[in-house]
Amino acid sequence: MLVTGGAGFIGRSLVKELLANNFTVSVIDTVSSSDKKAQSLIQLGAHYYNGDIRDLPSIEQAGEGCSHIVHLAAQTSVPASIENPKLNDEVNLNGTLNIIKYSNSNNIKKVVFASSAAVYGNCEDVPLVEESAGSCLSPYAESKFQNEKDLLSLISKEPRVHILRFFNVYGPGQDTNSSYAAVIPSFIQRIISGQSPTIFGDGSQSRDFIAVSDVVDLITHILLNSNNTKNGVYNVATQTETSINELLSLIITSISQTDNGIKIPEINYQGKRSGDITSSCADISKVVNSFGWSPKVSLAQGIKSLVEFELRG
Ligand SMILES: NC(=O)c1ccc[n+]([C@@H]2O[C@H](COP(=O)([O-])OP(=O)(O)OC[C@H]3O[C@@H](n4cnc5c(N)ncnc54)[C@H](O)[C@@H]3O)[C@@H](O)[C@H]2O)c1
Repeated sequence: MLVTGGAGFIGRSLVKELLANNFTVSVIDTVSSSDKKAQSLIQLGAHYYNGDIRDLPSIEQAGEGCSHIVHLAAQTSVPASIENPKLNDEVNLNGTLNIIKYSNSNNIKKVVFASSAAVYGNCEDVPLVEESAGSCLSPYAESKFQNEKDLLSLISKEPRVHILRFFNVYGPGQDTNSSYAAVIPSFIQRIISGQSPTIFGDGSQSRDFIAVSDVVDLITHILLNSNNTKNGVYNVATQTETSINELLSLIITSISQTDNGIKIPEINYQGKRSGDITSSCADISKVVNSFGWSPKVSLAQGIKSLVEFELRG
C-alpha cells in the first residue's frame, strides 16, 4: 500500500490504522524522515520515503511492490493556491498525473483519491449532491476538480478509482493553520490559553464536519472491500449542518465539563470575510449506499475527545 502525503494530518491517522490492520505501508511525503511526524510512522513499521510526487522516479521507488494507492499528497492551502497558482498546479496537477502514469504502468489495483468539497464553490443548493460540482473559486479547487477528471479518464481499466470529496475533516494532530476545519483546533487552543476565539460574521454560517477517524474508517473499508464497486466520486461528510456558533458552543461545553477551571473568554466577532460561503452540507447517500458505510462519530463526541487530547498536550 502506498500512501502519498502520509505524514500529513489525515495521512498519519490513516497510516496508523492501516498498520494496525496488518497492511504493509509505504509512505511518500516531502516531510523529512527525521521529522517527528515521519518518525512516529517509521517507529510503527511504515516504510518512509522522503520524496516529491512531482518526480516520477521517486514515486516508483516509494511504490515498489505496492498494489494499492491512497493519494493524499497535495498543496492543500486555498490562499497559497491563489498566491502561487503555478506551484499549486505543479504539485496537484502534475503530481497527480505522475500517480496516474505510475498506476497505469504498474500492477496497481485500486486508487483512492482525496478530493475536496472546494469543488462545489459557492453552490449552496444543500445538501450538495455529487453532480453539483464545478463552480470552483480557487486554483486549489480547480486543480482538485481537474484531478478527478484526469483520474477517471486517464487511468486504464484496472485499477479502480474511488474519488472521495472530503468536507471539513477534524481531529487530533490537525495544524491550526490548515485551511479546512482548522477553526476547531484554533477555537480549542485559544480558549484553553485564555484568548478570545474570533468569529467572522454573525456565526450563522454552517459547515459539515467529519471526524478524521470516520474518514480513515471509510478509506480502510474501501481498501479491504468494494472490489465490485464501480469507479466513482463520493461525498465524505456527515450530512449534518453545524453553524459556527453551535460549534463554539459545543467546544465551550466540552471544555467547561473538564473541570480544569478554565475561564471561558469573551467571543470576538469580526466582519464577515469576503468569499465565505454561507452554508455547506453534503448529501452522503451515494457513499452510504455504495459502500455500506456511514459516519459513526457525532460532532459532540468528536469535540469532547479532541478537547481531552488538546488538554493532555
Ligand atoms: N483536512 C481536510 O479537511 C480536507 C478537506 C478536503 C480535502 N482534503 C484533502 O485531503 C488530503 C490530505 O489533507 P490533510 O488535511 O491531511 O493535509 P496536510 O497538508 O496535513 O497533508 C498533506 C501532505 O502532503 C504532503 N505533500 C505536499 N506536497 C507534496 C509533494 N509535492 N510530494 C509529496 N508529498 C507532498 C505534505 O508534506 C503533507 O504531509 C489533501 O489532498 C487535501 O487536499 C483535506
